[in-house]
Amino acid sequence: MRGIILSGGSATRLRPCTKVTSKQLLPVYNRPMIYYPLNTLIKAGIKEILIIVSPERAGDYLNLLGSGREFGVQFTYEVQDKPRGLADAFIMGENFIDNENVTMILGDNIFEDDFSEAINSFKSGGMVFVKKVHDPERFGVVKFDDNKKAIEIKEKPQEWISDYASTGLYIFDNRCVEIAKSLESSERGELEIVDIQRFYLEKGELEVAMVENEWIDAGTFDSLLEAQNLAKDKLQDKLVI
Ligand code: DAU
Repeated sequence: MRGIILSGGSATRLRPCTKVTSKQLLPVYNRPMIYYPLNTLIKAGIKEILIIVSPERAGDYLNLLGSGREFGVQFTYEVQDKPRGLADAFIMGENFIDNENVTMILGDNIFEDDFSEAINSFKSGGMVFVKKVHDPERFGVVKFDDNKKAIEIKEKPQEWISDYASTGLYIFDNRCVEIAKSLESSERGELEIVDIQRFYLEKGELEVAMVENEWIDAGTFDSLLEAQNLAKDKLQDKLVI
């Protein structure tokens, strides 16, 4: 299993704090934000991790995280010159992923759950982790039928389809690279992760798991504040780095 952390983007919603640094390097209580998704991967035993960064901030990531030796893992870096969308990570990561399966986590997603078992027992297909939210229009959303079977997945739907948000943790088999390469940009100009999820869903190969405990997408000032409190109150004794 290979790991990817997607940590580029311009984070305009967090200006002026992100004018001179990357969102994923802002402090979340006593660690830079990216340490939390890194914990999720390292705890699950993933040893090879690709960190995708924006050109302006690449040096900061190298200075902070280095080779990975300090954490007992190996980091590879790729510079994404433009935010082309989440699915672009699998195109950029083609050589790094090689013939392996891949777990991707977003650099601004903070989870309380331990996903080691799901990651280590993964064989093939795709896997997403959903959580009930009060503001589904902010997320990729998964709709279920009466038998709790996932039937539809949509990015930021304007009209309500479900309260279950797809969180920023994805496990895919090696096919995700070719699927990503075949995608066309959406109306908002991005290669959408939901289009990869939909490929597996339509083949009946998408497993949907519930996130049990807290999850925060720390992309706004309010959610960043919630992340600080979660980190202080509940995460400290769960961290490995
Ligand atoms: O947080 C979960 C949500 O993340 C999912 O529910 C959505 O399906 C998914 O599209 C994504 O939505 P966001 O609106 O939160 O995506 P955002 O544009 O904020 O990007 C997520 C992270 O990935 C952010 O830390 C920046 C980084 N990023 C984003 C893009 C588009 C990149 O590094 N490169 C990119 O090209």
